[in-house]
Amino acid sequence: MEKQFKRYLITSALPYANGPVHIGHLAGVYVPSDIYTRYLRLRGREVVSVCGSDEHGVPITIKAKKEGITPQQVVDRYHEIIKSSFERLGIKFDIYSRTTSPTHYATASEFFRKLYDDGKFVEQTSEQYYDEEAKTFLADRYIVGTCPKCGNTAAYGDQCEACGSTLSPDELIEPHSAVSGSVPVKRETKHWYLPLDQYESMLREWILEGHKEWKSNVYGQCKSWLDGGLLPRAVSRDLDWGIPVPVEGAEGKVLYVWFDAPIGYISATKELTPEWEKYWKSEDTKLVHFIGKDNIVFHCIVFPSMLKAHGDYILPENVPSNEFLNLEGNKISTSKNWAVWLHEYLDEMPGKEDVLRYVLCANAPETKDNDFTWADYQARNNNELVAVLGNFVNRALVLTKKYYEGVVPACGELNDYDRETIAELSQIKEALESNIENYRFREALKEAMNFARIGNKYLADTEPWKLIKTDAERVNTILNIALQITANIAVAIEPFMPFSAAKILKMLAVEGYDWEQLGSMGLIAAGHTIGEPSLLFEKIEDDVIRRQLDKLEAAKAANLAAEVKAEPQKEECSYDDFQKMDIRVSTILAAEKVAKTKKLLKLTIDTGIDHRTIVSGIAEHFSPEELVGKQVLVLVNLQPRELKGILSQGMILMAEDASGKLRLLQPNEPVNAGAMVG
Ligand code: MF3
Ligand code: ZN
Repeated sequence: MEKQFKRYLITSALPYANGPVHIGHLAGVYVPSDIYTRYLRLRGREVVSVCGSDEHGVPITIKAKKEGITPQQVVDRYHEIIKSSFERLGIKFDIYSRTTSPTHYATASEFFRKLYDDGKFVEQTSEQYYDEEAKTFLADRYIVGTCPKCGNTAAYGDQCEACGSTLSPDELIEPHSAVSGSVPVKRETKHWYLPLDQYESMLREWILEGHKEWKSNVYGQCKSWLDGGLLPRAVSRDLDWGIPVPVEGAEGKVLYVWFDAPIGYISATKELTPEWEKYWKSEDTKLVHFIGKDNIVFHCIVFPSMLKAHGDYILPENVPSNEFLNLEGNKISTSKNWAVWLHEYLDEMPGKEDVLRYVLCANAPETKDNDFTWADYQARNNNELVAVLGNFVNRALVLTKKYYEGVVPACGELNDYDRETIAELSQIKEALESNIENYRFREALKEAMNFARIGNKYLADTEPWKLIKTDAERVNTILNIALQITANIAVAIEPFMPFSAAKILKMLAVEGYDWEQLGSMGLIAAGHTIGEPSLLFEKIEDDVIRRQLDKLEAAKAANLAAEVKAEPQKEECSYDDFQKMDIRVSTILAAEKVAKTKKLLKLTIDTGIDHRTIVSGIAEHFSPEELVGKQVLVLVNLQPRELKGILSQGMILMAEDASGKLRLLQPNEPVNAGAMVG
């Protein structure tokens, strides 16, 4: 028998406040958790959904140092961006808190203190790198040196980003401190460890025996951790950003970010409701953690051990974790700006919140890594949202307007085809429920879309627009059914696309429905007057997609530029040498390909002095059409030379980037041809 629960506590991984949220985070964690939570709310379940910003940890201090601001300023900035962008996408938490909140400081300190007082920690002294100049211990990230595997001279003490190897600071060649540049020394320091080995048998039994139903990627990772044997883990760090270790003699030490962050779920619940304990401490609460796959060990091994060590707390019933979403074939990377940032998407694609939610769910990396491409985004919008969902809803509403002035017609006698259609529709609810409850959101979304698919087919097969002339009574029934399906769609898609669901309700001029009504053909009464139909989705044109791809292309170019070292400076030249060159602003009057060559273009240009011909090797970079009319800089007194039998009189100046891509040099606003450059 499956366990029955009275209430739900849903947590979503607290995003690091060292950058904004991108589509990878959304597809992996926040869209699924929002679908699940909205579904539970719609069913009238008692549920709270908590989240917040994860505001401690070394990367935030590094970012602050780089920008010359305080860690608090870093997290203040990103907390606001993240919080508001979630809201704008309709990701609806009951509370979005942060780990610098006073409640969280108190909660995390007390948690540590209880474990400390109960003797749950082991104290251990070890040698850590220390920067004598900056007088600070150095986290692995703060030590840089040469990678022993690939020779990259800017490898970090925990990882080399050039070759991807995991490193320890001891392996670095010529290690030095990223803070002061000095050579770090080893110094003894004391820390508190949670002896995970003592929780191994509890975890084995709880997960490996008790939760075989967990997703195979989660179960598999847990099993391999447990089979590998667990070791004590330090829960404190030498750092000046974080929650101070609440023990005497622990100056300069803070709680490890992965100790305090999951406690953030508890603090957020406390801030939300004085009844927080019933969510965290009673067995009839179903606790579900939504996370990305890099968080599995912390949520399935470490945090549960902390909760057990504390006592009183329940453990999660499930930890649905997704794989990663790639972007246009490459790994999403915050540092390389290879991402679609949520706040930018919302600004650039107004009104398309549900399109993103739809695409990220339909393409979610549930069982394997997946790829987001703008072409797929466009295709799903145009072929699925516009052509299937939007089209059906629009037809149902517009026909009702047209034939009945918006008054819902009464359903007459059903024929066999009606009955078949209705029977098919009535099966969706259960499939939808079982998919959502088992965290298969892609499948669930397909089921929800089936209402529209079946609806479209129903209208195409029954052709009310033809029947209206011959059998108007039959059309009453058809449109009644079509409107019932439309109302069903509003219920079914609400967890996935809440904005569109609300729009449909408004167009139907109804308040809303309970989940339990789903599948029924009695959602809208005959005689009810519907509202004004408008389009649910709009076709997305190529140029919109092009702009997004260009933006990514620019990010790639910028990365390349940052990676490559500029060519060393050439030998000094005299002012007179420079003065010899006659460079003029010129206008390209005509351009054509030079026959039988791949690279050459023949250009006719107006130098202001004369009209002349220049042969230029740029045919692979520019089309003749895009050049005509452009102003360029031309070295006009370069010795003429013949190319493929054409006399070329001068040279067009270009900038070439590291990838060999060429760009024209132009005055920043049009000037007369012949203007001198110098
Ligand atoms: N900030 C972490 C990440 O983005 C997730 C923290 S989840 C919590 O990977 F449980 F620690 F809160
Ligand atoms: Zn390397």
